[in-house]
Order: sequence, then structure tokens, then C-alpha cells
Amino acid sequence: MIAKTFVTSACFAVFAVALPNPQVPGYTDDDTPFVQTPYPVSSLATSFGPDSQVPATATSDASPPPLVSSDFTGATSHGPFSGTPTITGAANAPTTLASEVAPMPLNPTATYYNTNGLPQNPAPAPYTPNGGLGTNGSLPRYMVNSDFDYESIALGLYQEWIELDLFNNGLAVFSEADFLSAGLTAEDRSYIAFMAQQEEGHATLLTNMLGETAPVQCTYNYPFETVREFIDFNQKLTRWGESGVWGFINHLDSREVGQLLAQSIATEARQQMSFRQMLGLHPMPVWFETGIPQSWAWSYLAPYISSCPANQTRLAWQNFPALHIINQPNPNRFSPNDTKANEVVGNRTGDPSDSLIPSEESCVNLNVTGVGCGPAIARNRSEPLSFPGKMVNFTWDAPGSAVGPNNSYVTSTSAGNPTFVAWVAQLNLTYTPLTVTGNNSGYTYQPAGHVYGDDGAVNGTMFVALTDSDLFLTPFNLSMINPHVRALGLYQAG
Ligand SMILES: *[C@@H]1O[C@H](CO)[C@@H](O)[C@H](O)[C@H]1NC(C)=O
Ligand SMILES: *[C@@H]1O[C@H](CO)[C@@H](O)[C@H](O)[C@H]1NC(C)=O
Ligand SMILES: *[C@@H]1O[C@H](CO)[C@@H](O)[C@H](O)[C@H]1NC(C)=O
Ligand SMILES: *[C@@H]1O[C@H](CO)[C@@H](O)[C@H](O)[C@H]1NC(C)=O
Ligand SMILES: *[C@@H]1O[C@H](CO)[C@@H](O)[C@H](O)[C@H]1NC(C)=O
Ligand SMILES: *[C@@H]1O[C@H](CO)[C@@H](O)[C@H](O)[C@H]1NC(C)=O
Ligand SMILES: *[C@@H]1O[C@H](CO)[C@@H](O)[C@H](O)[C@H]1NC(C)=O
Ligand SMILES: *[C@@H]1O[C@H](CO)[C@@H](O)[C@H](O)[C@H]1NC(C)=O
Ligand SMILES: *[C@@H]1O[C@H](CO)[C@@H](O)[C@H](O)[C@H]1NC(C)=O
Ligand SMILES: *[C@@H]1O[C@H](CO)[C@@H](O)[C@H](O)[C@H]1NC(C)=O
Ligand SMILES: *[C@@H]1O[C@H](CO)[C@@H](O)[C@H](O)[C@H]1NC(C)=O
Ligand SMILES: *[C@@H]1O[C@H](CO)[C@@H](O)[C@H](O)[C@H]1NC(C)=O
Repeated sequence: MIAKTFVTSACFAVFAVALPNPQVPGYTDDDTPFVQTPYPVSSLATSFGPDSQVPATATSDASPPPLVSSDFTGATSHGPFSGTPTITGAANAPTTLASEVAPMPLNPTATYYNTNGLPQNPAPAPYTPNGGLGTNGSLPRYMVNSDFDYESIALGLYQEWIELDLFNNGLAVFSEADFLSAGLTAEDRSYIAFMAQQEEGHATLLTNMLGETAPVQCTYNYPFETVREFIDFNQKLTRWGESGVWGFINHLDSREVGQLLAQSIATEARQQMSFRQMLGLHPMPVWFETGIPQSWAWSYLAPYISSCPANQTRLAWQNFPALHIINQPNPNRFSPNDTKANEVVGNRTGDPSDSLIPSEESCVNLNVTGVGCGPAIARNRSEPLSFPGKMVNFTWDAPGSAVGPNNSYVTSTSAGNPTFVAWVAQLNLTYTPLTVTGNNSGYTYQPAGHVYGDDGAVNGTMFVALTDSDLFLTPFNLSMINPHVRALGLYQAG
């Protein structure tokens, strides 16, 4: 393996020297002569060991820290819930003080500005600039420290639990041949199995930060029937899992919890990217990953949880009515423009696109640059999934539907008539006007607009909501949008 990698990189280097300069327009210092001895590709290693013996000692870890649930001890049955809920509605506080959080002026202590580039205040110790939180020597406490923290981490735990089950479930229900026909090898299956194991660790971490009332694993109801749909669902589910955390992590009271959570969500972000690659999407067609409010993450997640054990800890977050994107771009098509109406496998917001389209319309097995969408490190789609100016059609559900574990939560909204479509992607919240065409149906046009430079704001797997106002909000106060959200959807922009 080492020999092979070396030969490959040496070949690339030779290839690079042979190309005419400049290879990057405007980059002038590109003629450094990296003279390499060409390695003949024919001289590959053919025997692999025994290897050199290196200095080592015998070690063992006889008692690793315990997991709260190992791979296969959770529920393994799946499907919809058909019983009657014994309890309904979100977890309530003893009192609720107002109908929404009122905007306030700037915090009077937010004044620091440095004009000379030097430390301004006494340093508590050498090489230790003044300021920061949790930097004064106080003992860290890795536990949630408020209802906000508790409900946020409990939501995160519901997400980790479904991922643990979901990744294993796909491996269990599809055969090796099914995976191969979607371009995914035995090594890729092992990789997905490893991601499931990562979730055992994440679920253990979050459980420990909550304590004895931490939510446990539930029973789930999945939308996919093919490997492509499984992968598509995974890249959507991990997108709201990751973005759900970015939305609250910097609002947590407990910096210690935020620290550990960041270290787990960095892994989740890599999972999301890998699932995009397995679907032949551009791995990350954005410069920034977006954050969403907790009630959004819960609205996307809850419809896939069919039931939880009797004394399961409930969540305080809102479930918004579903927003359906009629012409959701289908990543299985080489021509996303040709996507038919409702070409998704169900009516839940995170449902994957239909992969069972005619093979002459599919990009899955096409080995053509710019058109193919089999698994790859990176793909160029010459016809993008979506583009600014595209007409996007919607229908949306009425509030009052039973959703989530045991159908025991109820969708709700406090918004008036929807008049705007809110596009949440990267660092941005962009509104476009909604044209209403019927009861609970309408359309808008996908916005243009950039984050910086030529980075189009709307791209990747991103979030859309119908709202009754175009309130100006930024990433740190985005949750103030919630009282204005009429329905919530997920858009496959790129
Ligand atoms: C140390 O910092 C923490 C916040 O990080 C603060 O809550 C605590 O009051 C500080 N302790 C002292 C003695 O200043
Ligand atoms: C739920 O019940 C189980 C079994 O009786 C118990 O171990 C667990 O602590 C309970 N959970 C809560 C949140 O009360
Ligand atoms: C939810 O459904 C499961 C499975 O039927 C049942 O065991 C559990 O008690 C129910 N939970 C509640 C809160 O009714
Ligand atoms: C969504 O689909 C399910 C199953 O096909 C159906 O029972 C349900 O009524 C649908 N819900 C809505 C709001 O259309
Ligand atoms: C794709 O096409 C290229 C060039 O024609 C070829 O080298 C490669 O083996 C093909 N890959 C597959 C998976 O068919
Ligand atoms: C891929 O797309 C980029 C721009 O998005 C373009 O510059 C590049 O030439 C494309 N590469 C191929 C191989 O099509
Ligand atoms: C998709 O539709 C847009 C808008 O009509 C058009 O500009 C674009 O050329 C179409 N894409 C292809 C590959 O035809
Ligand atoms: C998203 O990014 C990809 C890769 O840079 C680009 O080809 C595509 O046109 C972008 N899509 C939109 C909607 O801007
Ligand atoms: C979107 O809505 C417009 C206006 O009602 C309609 O003309 C168009 O056919 C719809 N497109 C789809 C894909 O439903
Ligand atoms: C909208 O709903 C009203 C009353 O429920 C009904 O009379 C009307 O026909 C509906 N309009 C459309 C376009 O479906
Ligand atoms: C997106 O956010 C960036 C950073 O705040 C801002 O500079 C840019 O103007 C925003 N773009 C749009 C279209 O809102
Ligand atoms: C949200 O924050 C931005 C500053 O980044 C501010 O301009 C805006 O007024 C705030 N929105 C509300 C509703 O407070």
C-alpha cells in the first residue's frame, strides 16, 4: 500500500511537470522545477509482508469506558406506529413568560475594538491574553447547565440514536450486491459500519452530559427502498443533524458541553460529506455550513421516529408543519431539469428522491465527466441540481398533525398567512416573495445572491421555510424566526 501510494504520487508529479505553465491562471510562481525520477508503473509491489519489525511493547486496555448502548442492543424492529398516544405535546415549562422573545439593543459590554493590534488589558499569566470564558482556572463541569442546554443536548441525543440505528439498518436490509450496483464496495460498507460505531460514542457522550433522564433509543420508520435512497436519506438526515448543532452550540450555557459537542459534530460533518460523495454530489459546494434552530432540527427528525419506550424523556421544541417541494431536484437524474413533480419517495420533509427512474434518465451508472453521479471524491455536474431564478413549487400541510414518537407530538405554527419563502444556507437568510396559487400551494423563484465573492449563497442540502414576514436575522439570532414560520422544508439545491 505504501509503495503503491508513492508510485501514484510520483506519477502525478511527473505529469504535473510535463504540463504547460501556467496551470492556474494568474498564478505566476508556478515553474518550480520539481525534477523527479520517473517511476515505471510496472514495478508495483506484489508481496506484502512480513514487514520490518519496529521497536514496540505489549499494551492492553482491559476496561475501556462503557458505552450506553452497543451496536445491536437497541430496537431492531422498524415501521410506522399504529397505537394511540398516551401523552401529547411538547414538554412544557411550569410557566411561559411571553409569546415570543422581544428584540433588545446591543449588549452594553460588547464594545471591544482593537486599533493598534496589541493586547489592551492585563494578562492573567505569561502568554495568556486577557479574556475568554472558562479561562480563569475554574474547574470544568461537563454537564448541561440550564433548560436550554438540557433540551438542546437531549435533541442531539435523539439524533445520535437514530443515526446509530439508521446506518446499521441500511447495511442490514441491503445486500452486498445492492450496494455494488450503487457503486459502493465492501470497503464502503465497512466505512458506513464504522460511522454507526461513531454514533455509539456520540450517544454515550451526550447521555453522560445529561444524566439519568437522558433519552434512550427509539423505534424508527424509514423512507428508503434502495441503496441510493438510503444514502440520500443519510446525507439529508446528517445535514439537519449537523446544522441543528451549529444553530445552538454557541448559545449553550455550559462551555464545557459545547467543547465536547463540537468535537463530536466535527465527525458528523465528515459523515455528511461522505454521504454526499457516495451519492455522487459535490462533497461541499459551499464555503460555510449553516446553522438552524432546534425546533427545525426536531421538525425534520420527529417524523422518522415511530415510538419510544414508555418513560422516554420528551422534548420542549416545536414541530412545524411540513413544506413539500414539488419539483425537488432529483440527484439520480443526469438532467435535474427533467425531474417530475413529486419525485420523492414519500411526504415527509426529509424523504429522499426517487431512485427508481428509467435507466436512460439516470446518472448512477454513467461514467461520463460532468454527467455521472456514481460515488466519487468529487463530481462536476454540468447541469446543476438547481440554479438562481428556478421556479420552485410548494404545497404545505395544515398544522395539527400528529408526528413523532407514538404520534405524540402535534405540528403547530403561530405565523399568519405565508407571504415569504426564507432560504437558510451558509451564513445567509434570504427571503423571496411567495406567490400563493391555492389553498396551501404556491411558488417562488430561487434567489441569486452571494455570501462573498462568487460563492452563491443557496447551494448544497439546505433549508427553506414559509414565513409571514421578512424579519432581518443573522446566524446568532436566527431562532427569532420561529414565531413567523408557517411551514418548513428541505431543499436539494446542489
Ligand atoms: C471564572 O469564570 C467563570 C466563567 O467562565 C465565571 O462563571 C466565574 O464566576 C469566574 N470565577 C471567578 C472567581 O471570577
Ligand atoms: C425508564 O425506565 C427504565 C426501566 O425501568 C429506567 O432504567 C430508566 O431510568 C427510566 N428512565 C427515566 C427517564 O425515568
Ligand atoms: C409508545 O409506544 C410503545 C410501543 O408501542 C410503547 O411501549 C410505549 O409505552 C408508548 N409510549 C407512550 C408514552 O405511550
Ligand atoms: C402522507 O403519506 C402517508 C402514507 O402514504 C399518508 O397516510 C398520509 O395521509 C400522508 N399525509 C399527508 C399530510 O398527506
Ligand atoms: C470510466 O471511464 C474511464 C475512461 O474511459 C475508464 O478509464 C474507467 O475505467 C471507467 N470507470 C468505470 C468505473 O467504468
Ligand atoms: C468542473 O467545474 C469547474 C467549475 O465549477 C470547471 O472550472 C472545471 O473545468 C470543471 N472540470 C471538469 C473536469 O469538468
Ligand atoms: C435547465 O433549465 C434552465 C432554465 O430554463 C436552462 O437555462 C438550462 O439550460 C436548462 N439546462 C439544460 C442542461 O438544458
Ligand atoms: C453549487 O455549487 C456547484 C459547485 O461549485 C456549482 O456547480 C453549482 O452551480 C452551484 N449551484 C447553485 C444553485 O448555485
Ligand atoms: C409550478 O407552478 C406554476 C404556477 O402555478 C405552474 O405553472 C407550474 O406548472 C408548476 N410547476 C410544477 C413543477 O409543478
Ligand atoms: C380552498 O378552500 C375553500 C374552502 O375550504 C374551497 O371552497 C376552495 O375551493 C379551495 N380552493 C382551492 C383552489 O382548492
Ligand atoms: C450573506 O451573508 C454574508 C455574510 O454576512 C453577507 O456579506 C452577504 O451580503 C449575504 N448575502 C446575501 C445574498 O444575503
Ligand atoms: C438580528 O441580528 C442582526 C445583527 O446581526 C440585527 O440587525 C437584527 O435586527 C436582529 N434581529 C432581531 C429581530 O433582533
